[in-house]
Amino acid sequence: MDRQAAENRVKQLHKEINRHNYLYYVEDRPEITDAEYDQLLRELQQLEKEFPELVTQDSPTQRVGAAPLEKFSQVAHRLPMLSLENAFNEGEMRDFDERIKRFLGLPMANEIDYVCEPKMDGLAVELIYEEGTLTFGATRGDGYVGEDVTQNLKTVKAIPLRLHCSHPPRLVEVRGEVYLGLAPFQKLNMEREEAGLPPFANPRNAAAGSLRQLDPRITARRPLSIFSYAPGIVEGYEFVSQSQMLATLPQWGLPVNPLIRKVNGINGVLAYYREMGETRETLPYEIDGVVVKVDSFDLQRDLGEKSRSPRWAIAWKFPPRQAITVVEDIVPQVGRTGVITPVAHLRPVEVSGVIVSRATLHNWEEMEKKDIRKGDTVIVERAGDVIPAVVKVMTEKRVAGAELLAVPAACPECGSEIVKIPGEVAVRCLGLTCPAQIRETIIHFASRHAMDIEGMGDKYIEQLLRLGLVKTVADLYYLKKEDFMRFERMGDKLAENLLNAIDSSKHRELSRFIYALGIRHVGEHTAKLLANAFGSIEHLGKATEEELLSIHEVGPQVAQSISTFFHNPVNLEVIERMFAAGVRPAVEEKRLGGRFAGKTFVFTGALSRFTRDDAKRMVENEGGHAAGSVSKKTDYVVAGAEAGSKLDKARQLGVAVLTEDEFLRMLEG
Ligand code: IVH
Repeated sequence: MDRQAAENRVKQLHKEINRHNYLYYVEDRPEITDAEYDQLLRELQQLEKEFPELVTQDSPTQRVGAAPLEKFSQVAHRLPMLSLENAFNEGEMRDFDERIKRFLGLPMANEIDYVCEPKMDGLAVELIYEEGTLTFGATRGDGYVGEDVTQNLKTVKAIPLRLHCSHPPRLVEVRGEVYLGLAPFQKLNMEREEAGLPPFANPRNAAAGSLRQLDPRITARRPLSIFSYAPGIVEGYEFVSQSQMLATLPQWGLPVNPLIRKVNGINGVLAYYREMGETRETLPYEIDGVVVKVDSFDLQRDLGEKSRSPRWAIAWKFPPRQAITVVEDIVPQVGRTGVITPVAHLRPVEVSGVIVSRATLHNWEEMEKKDIRKGDTVIVERAGDVIPAVVKVMTEKRVAGAELLAVPAACPECGSEIVKIPGEVAVRCLGLTCPAQIRETIIHFASRHAMDIEGMGDKYIEQLLRLGLVKTVADLYYLKKEDFMRFERMGDKLAENLLNAIDSSKHRELSRFIYALGIRHVGEHTAKLLANAFGSIEHLGKATEEELLSIHEVGPQVAQSISTFFHNPVNLEVIERMFAAGVRPAVEEKRLGGRFAGKTFVFTGALSRFTRDDAKRMVENEGGHAAGSVSKKTDYVVAGAEAGSKLDKARQLGVAVLTEDEFLRMLEG
């Protein structure tokens, strides 16, 4: 390619990649798959390698992370980043509303326009755009002085490196919350525990830890996101209200939380708070309350601020998801990779609507540090969704003789030697045939995000192991109906369903197959990268560590682990046996202009023709997007039996509603 052609293509790629970032992060309706996105990015990287003079400061490749720093430099905010006063109940909110009217000299019967926003549980940052280009980014710090984390913020794909407007204002300072979603948070913690590192207590700590990394390449690997919610100094443009600002920022490419709503008067605020209390449970990120702001910037100016917080805003916190209960026992549990973790069995207790009876204590060091003992009265918290944690021991309630559980001397399941790897907190069982490891490996293999063998849950896998019907994952593909009929309470139909489910898993995507193998340090994301890069298990198995390292995002630890896995003859034999049984992982097809390109689907109700995961796959294979909730952006709602509020909402918004059969017909064209 000559220089001119390269320059044109580079510009085109900038545009295209930025557009897909926008669709993904601001509009929440991606048009291409992650793999296709990576492909565009790789093409750009290649061109920039050939023509280094074409690299610009705002090129999407500049997000991969610059060289590590020695330390962050301190920076003063031109306008202090204030904090918010908290309210904890309706009475305090009514006081807030009345205080505002009194201060403004308005009659109490007047209703104020408020903007209500979910209070994101992340960390506040400031982004500075000069002439439309992101030049600077900092943490809030103490509100007056923060840390310069520009290089790290540039790795956050939801943050535009250039504002999307042809005549950008001279200066735009925007404040927002950087956060980590629940799924990436759980994944990150799993990887950390696996690597023998202490897990993060909650998504907020994980987000802060990820952003305040001296090595931006680490930040680049964490899928941080952002919602913007406040202006700093702005020159060359005037915002008149919070609602008008929040409507403008997305046009410039800055994500704004779609759940934000302008309401009238305190009653509007109360209704919003109640609604968010419910919505909260379904969100893919943590919120810890609702932020209420006076909409008009004129009124905000009149109200001004107290020492550290504005008079025109308040944070109405949700009650914490905590409860008090008793640790009835502490039991060592062996995971898939042999890591042994202490698990607390709790006296069942309700924590904001969910009954909690177990909590992971993460690792022995953590347990000792928190001094958690059998019989202790503890505070448990459901932070970051499903995994409950013990946050504190009420030592004043400790009964005499409560003893700390010692690290077991041998594996509690197979009696093998256990080791603590120096520099890691994890304790591992070294038994190659440890039944707990085998059980967890098979459970992982069959699980939803791996081979997705429907119906093949823990209970059946345990029975298969007990009866000696499977010893490795490959044995699953040699099971016969008679084998299942040996189970207690097994019928013809159920046995056939299980066999069918096993059979249909033979052609799962390659990335799922790689993930299902359970190679240490290879999570779903890495499995996708490997599938894209190597295209088949044979190629992956033959890859040298050097070839593995050439993949962006694959580090030495991962490369070594993959190489070790494929050098183990036992593993190769298991894979061989699966192939001999007809397992053929499918290579993901790239469907740019699929039948559903650009279309968003929501599936609701009880589906009988396909599972929700299948539905998602079908939509994505055709270039569409499957979303979790109905909005104006939804194109179709596919409703199964007993569809509820999502169907109502679809009707309300005039979104097209399909039956499952209609959907399948549409799929077939
Ligand atoms: S407005 C003066 N809006 O809450 C305006 N803050 O407790 C100050 N936060 O430091 C910020 N979601 O880190 C605002 N929608 C939202 C927010 C939000 C989360 C955080 C932010 C702030 C803290 C104050």
